[in-house]
Amino acid sequence: MRRTGVLFVCLGNICRSPVAEGVFRHKVMAAGLESRIHIDSAGTGTWHAGKPPDPRTIRTAAARGFDVSTLRARQVSATDLLQFDHVLAMDRSNHDALLRLSPPAHRHKIALFMEYAPHTGFREVPDPYYGDDSDFEQVLDLVEAAADGLLARLKGQLS
Ligand code: 4NP
Repeated sequence: MRRTGVLFVCLGNICRSPVAEGVFRHKVMAAGLESRIHIDSAGTGTWHAGKPPDPRTIRTAAARGFDVSTLRARQVSATDLLQFDHVLAMDRSNHDALLRLSPPAHRHKIALFMEYAPHTGFREVPDPYYGDDSDFEQVLDLVEAAADGLLARLKGQLS
């Protein structure tokens, strides 16, 4: 059976999208759906390619039981738009970059991740890179909420 592909995208692929990948994978495994959903993350920029997540990302995720230490950053490519079913941007800037990158026929796959958690009042996951620990905690809060909404939506589509 073909797996549904979900790609999380931010700027550097060392703060927000690795958290989204780790948190969503954790929830998908807890739901027993890992054979049905393929999960990855990438960044629109190249600077951090090959690097592990930011130490603050690893630490705040680990404190909530999510291990993202083995992830490595990579840049998103046009091929990703062909291969994934859902390409979820952390903020509007990432969203716009993905629209520019995507072949026109695949643009419908691109959305803001926070659309899956409208009750939070956030439309974007704010970039924590120049922030402090509270900004990284906020990334975890928002990502956990949107991951729950996304999983609920995909469960409905898979069953
Ligand atoms: P991310 O955070 O997009 O959530 O991975 C950032 C990481 C690095 C930079 C900016 C944002 N940077 O400017 O290097």
